[in-house]
Amino acid sequence: MKITFIGGGNMATALIGGLKKQGFSVAGIQVVEPFAEARERLADSFGVRCAPAIDAAALNCEVLVLAVKPQQMKAALAPAAGQLSGQLVVSIAAGLRLADIGRWLGGNCRLVRAMPNTPALIGAGITGLYADATVDREARDAVEKILHAVGRTLWVDDEALMDTVTAVSGSGPAYVFYFIEALQNAGVELGLSAEAARMLAIETFLGAARLAEASEEAVGVLRERVTSKGGTTAAALAAFEAEGIAAAIGKGVTAAALRGRELCDILGQD
Ligand SMILES: NC(=O)c1ccc[n+]([C@@H]2O[C@H](COP(=O)([O-])OP(=O)(O)OC[C@H]3O[C@@H](n4cnc5c(N)ncnc54)[C@H](OP(=O)(O)O)[C@@H]3O)[C@@H](O)[C@H]2O)c1
Repeated sequence: MKITFIGGGNMATALIGGLKKQGFSVAGIQVVEPFAEARERLADSFGVRCAPAIDAAALNCEVLVLAVKPQQMKAALAPAAGQLSGQLVVSIAAGLRLADIGRWLGGNCRLVRAMPNTPALIGAGITGLYADATVDREARDAVEKILHAVGRTLWVDDEALMDTVTAVSGSGPAYVFYFIEALQNAGVELGLSAEAARMLAIETFLGAARLAEASEEAVGVLRERVTSKGGTTAAALAAFEAEGIAAAIGKGVTAAALRGRELCDILGQD
């Protein structure tokens, strides 16, 4: 499988590094990246072919991975418009719909939308995927293989749900950092050193997430199990409920989904 990345930034670097680690031949990978320093870094680190602009060699591939910022996408794709011959195109850009990307490319391609998240940078990402009906099982397997290089994957069957995926797991790491920060600050206020509070908060998140993943029980059941009547955890959860924390999280995720849809509308304009 020959893969060309359009954009050689953080995400492309994480994907190429992950593919190489999985034994994927770098001889099949090319990167189009206008920034000379980034090209040098990619060529030195991975031995991939890098080009400053889309050329015939770059389009000689089975899969095109679009890894530029959403605002740069339309301009980045202009040199490829009308030049495709059925390639599988995987966009990892937030806030761009497949119909708009397909229009900018001038058709003759099969399209997949992917929404990875920042932990992908250390191989611990979760990527939401959507493909339209023209993408068959074999092509879906190829996409999964690429995204598995940076973590796990999950397909959704309606493109509108990609706004929800963006709101839950795309933006999700920031919510987790927000909670860790608050937990850490509370620990410091109650007398711990910053270092101790940081370690306790992060390890608690890691351990609880691992426990939830390993358990067959719903997270609500796990929560109830550590909440004895009249105990310390019950006191904290009652205070959270009184402050409407769960409702506020729901509102926040909804706001993110609405903003995702709005960005698609704005960025997809011609
Ligand atoms: N990082 C994440 O955690 C994350 C998570 C989910 C989704 N994403 C999505 O992944 C995409 C890439 O994100 P990123 O973090 O990798 O961004 P990034 O580090 O800024 O990488 C984008 C790269 O594309 C290059 N570029 C700009 N114009 C180009 C053109 N015309 N042709 C080819 N390359 C061009 C940029 O070069 P210059 O620096 O010279 O402009 C830059 O190196 C974004 O759409 C983002 O929404 C990222």
